[in-house]
Amino acid sequence: MKLLFIGDVVGSPGRDMLATYLPRLKNKYKPTITIVNGENSANGKGITEKIYKQILDLGAQVVTLGNHTWDQRELIEVIDHCPNLVRPANFPEEVPGKGYTIVKINQLEVGVISIQGRTFLPPLDCPFKKADELIAIIKKRTPIIFVDFHAEATSEKQAMGWYLDGRVTAVIGTHTHVQTADYRILPNKTAYMTDVGMTGPYDGILGMERGAVLHRFLTSLPVRFEVAAGREQLNGVLIDIDPKTGAAKSISPININEDHPFFD
Ligand SMILES: [Fe+2]
Ligand SMILES: [Fe+2]
Repeated sequence: MKLLFIGDVVGSPGRDMLATYLPRLKNKYKPTITIVNGENSANGKGITEKIYKQILDLGAQVVTLGNHTWDQRELIEVIDHCPNLVRPANFPEEVPGKGYTIVKINQLEVGVISIQGRTFLPPLDCPFKKADELIAIIKKRTPIIFVDFHAEATSEKQAMGWYLDGRVTAVIGTHTHVQTADYRILPNKTAYMTDVGMTGPYDGILGMERGAVLHRFLTSLPVRFEVAAGREQLNGVLIDIDPKTGAAKSISPININEDHPFFD
């Protein structure tokens, strides 16, 4: 079976790219499950229930989030009505929403975990211990477990990959918005990639309009970031999995932009 994961969708440019390419990617690769990180899909900041449903309508089964989860205040009220919208699991217990889901597709169950790093990000519960906890729960039902590790530091992401090697199908990083070239299968058959990249503006700075970002670097003054306009990109990763054991067999990056066109 194949699993397709699309990196952080940023604003309407990201949603446009998803609408254009997700059907084509699904047609070409025939993934059993498609997962999309949607933490920046509402104007670069968080997600709304409406956008969550749009992403499912485009062909995804699960949407993961990250440190921008609560940027759209309405989500606090509605997240419990969105069964396959997964926010980082290591928020305090009483926080709305949930940190994992198990979806059933063609008799196969797939567990999806979202977890957030603690290095250069706000403090949360230990992501490593939280991962242990959730894996023990999901393993009772399925060996196929996908982990979206939303973290800033490459070292923390690599540490999670090695920590979970052989216990989950994949540990794929999100949050830094730049696709890394270190995609690999770890020795105990866990697919790993430090960051899957971002889906949205191609000519911005991490998806944001360059002028404002540069102004902040040049002056240290507070500025308001807007999603960049212009050319667009889509980043993702395709993982081939042994459905019986949950072991990853291969991992390949997907990078679509004007310099790297997509061929059906
Ligand atoms: Fe992001
Ligand atoms: Fe993030």
